[in-house]
Amino acid sequence: MDVDVNVNEQEYLTIAFPKGKLFGLAKELFSRVGYTAEGLTEKSRKLIISNDNKKIRFIVAKTADVPTYVEHGAADIGIIGKDVLAETEKDVYEVLDLGFGKCHLMMAVDKTKRRPKLADYAHTRVATKFPHIAEKFFTHKGMQMEYIKLNGSIELGPLVGLSDSIVDIVETGTTLKENNLEEIAHIMDATARLIVNRVSYKLKFKRIHSLVENLESILKRGDLLL
Ligand code: PRP
Repeated sequence: MDVDVNVNEQEYLTIAFPKGKLFGLAKELFSRVGYTAEGLTEKSRKLIISNDNKKIRFIVAKTADVPTYVEHGAADIGIIGKDVLAETEKDVYEVLDLGFGKCHLMMAVDKTKRRPKLADYAHTRVATKFPHIAEKFFTHKGMQMEYIKLNGSIELGPLVGLSDSIVDIVETGTTLKENNLEEIAHIMDATARLIVNRVSYKLKFKRIHSLVENLESILKRGDLLL
């Protein structure tokens, strides 16, 4: 009985999509290669959405958890921003740059309290959702900082006196502008990536490899609404 269950499990490919900004484009991209499932929506209360004919399962997870599902093999494949991937440092294969979800990580400060040089912010407080990336960046610059981990609305930090600066992602720049913040250092660029569990990549190689090839050719066509 156990053996049957395992064999069956191996036939399915489980794909983790992140909630939020990347969900729509991830769904669109996968639908172009025939990877769809009825009821696959970001807000679905059903947590596993299957297409039994195609032997595909989708899970829709909180963004920061996608690399965890993939690292542990709970999902074979995931879509995640390079920013989150770099922050979580999970042991997964990064197989494809999907090109969408372009943004960059940067340091920003209150415009009205701007100090002349980056080094003038040494030993001050940084609010961020990305403490590991931030620490690497500042350490590389020879700056010791105090990190305050926030989970959202990072821009509030300097506005309410919680921190002197932020390290966060910028997409359009609207949030910075509307909150009177100014970017003073570029840290890294990011786009969505396709990640694969290391064991799944070996056990389901043929299927994953052909999926990756199909996704690549769709991306090359360049007609995805990015
Ligand atoms: C992200 C980021 C910024 C904003 C940047 O937040 O943390 O706040 O988007 O986008 P913009 O440059 O286009 O204004 P998100 O919407 O993911 O929510 P959060 O603040 O809760 O993290």
